[in-house]
Amino acid sequence: MITVVVTGAAGFIGSNFVRLILEETNVHVVIVDKLTYAGHPATLVDLENDGRVIVFKDDITDEQAMQSIFHKYKPTWIVNCAAESHVDRSIDNPEPFLKTNTFGTYVLLEAARRFLVRADEHVRRDFRFLHVSTDEVFGSLGPEGKFSESSPYAPNSPYAASKGAADHFVRAYWHTYRVPTLITNCSNNYGPYQFPEKLIPLTILNALDGKPLRIYGDGLQVRDWLYVKDHCQAILQVLRNGRAGESYNIGGEEERTNREVVEGICDILQELMPANQNTCLVEKNLTKYTDLRQFVEDRPGHDQRYAIDPGKIRSELRWSPGHTFEVGLRKTVEWYLSHREWCRQVLGGRYDRQRLGLLAHD
Ligand SMILES: NC(=O)c1ccc[n+]([C@@H]2O[C@H](COP(=O)([O-])OP(=O)(O)OC[C@H]3O[C@@H](n4cnc5c(N)ncnc54)[C@H](O)[C@@H]3O)[C@@H](O)[C@H]2O)c1
Repeated sequence: MITVVVTGAAGFIGSNFVRLILEETNVHVVIVDKLTYAGHPATLVDLENDGRVIVFKDDITDEQAMQSIFHKYKPTWIVNCAAESHVDRSIDNPEPFLKTNTFGTYVLLEAARRFLVRADEHVRRDFRFLHVSTDEVFGSLGPEGKFSESSPYAPNSPYAASKGAADHFVRAYWHTYRVPTLITNCSNNYGPYQFPEKLIPLTILNALDGKPLRIYGDGLQVRDWLYVKDHCQAILQVLRNGRAGESYNIGGEEERTNREVVEGICDILQELMPANQNTCLVEKNLTKYTDLRQFVEDRPGHDQRYAIDPGKIRSELRWSPGHTFEVGLRKTVEWYLSHREWCRQVLGGRYDRQRLGLLAHD
């Protein structure tokens, strides 16, 4: 029987990953989550009721707590999704990013190293520490080219710097201690259970409420969009068949400007809940969701373009994304329309959808 420790599983990617492995495998799951503003019990309700899941409300920077979880549950796999994940918040306050993303990853690596020192040979052989990272560690691209596994690290935001530093520790624990690590660097995810501070869910909710749809700068920044379930399938493939010590880039090969993303959401909403039937827009005499677009001051140091070359994971592990952006975006809008109560609960008192990440002008 395989036990998987998934950190950050009350958040977006972690919760989707746990749902996927419960559906597709017979593993047991130990969830470790601090339940910050981005992780909410409402996301865990169905998971907690599954007899194969146990949940710990713990901080990954707590060395004793992490070592005792490894000691007690003897995991075969660890998937590290716990993080501070919002670039705008890292501009306002980098410290929690350094603590959780960098130091927290070190704490988990160290717990893994200590656990393996005392473990039997077959446990050491099967063990995998998979660190979920981002394409943002590679910096920003011009109009051409894509990030590969050998692209140089050039993080531009405090968030990206904290993730890049963690990646280096993960790599070092393989080279120095032979902890069998894997790194995945993925592009922008979207889909169910994403906290409504990121572009896609925030735009959906603001549109439904007739609030301005903020577009940073000219909105021509390009992201390579990856449907979260496709990402989770890729993580599972890497755990099963990836080579220890390697990193794998995961991307949807669906590049869109932020402007196109916002307009795509408006088009789908116009079809599913026409603006002239939405009282929030009718009260403002607006007939189209696109009328809510508002171009605002750009994010400081905003990266212009990210794009992933997923050639390695495609050829080595036979993974490919199952969703086009159009199909995934429609599913996502439908999910948020049918999960308004989840949105209300996770936002409640934690974030009122204000602009974050502008440098203070003092
Ligand atoms: N969402 C994306 O588009 C994207 C893209 C590339 C990489 N990633 C990476 O994927 C991982 C997961 O991202 P996400 O979007 O699911 O993030 P998220 O913000 O939705 O969830 C993060 C989870 O981690 C938990 N957490 C935070 N600090 C913790 C701590 N100290 N101890 C224990 N738990 C803690 C939170 O409570 C939350 O449940 C992150 O490492 C992120 O850098 C995300």
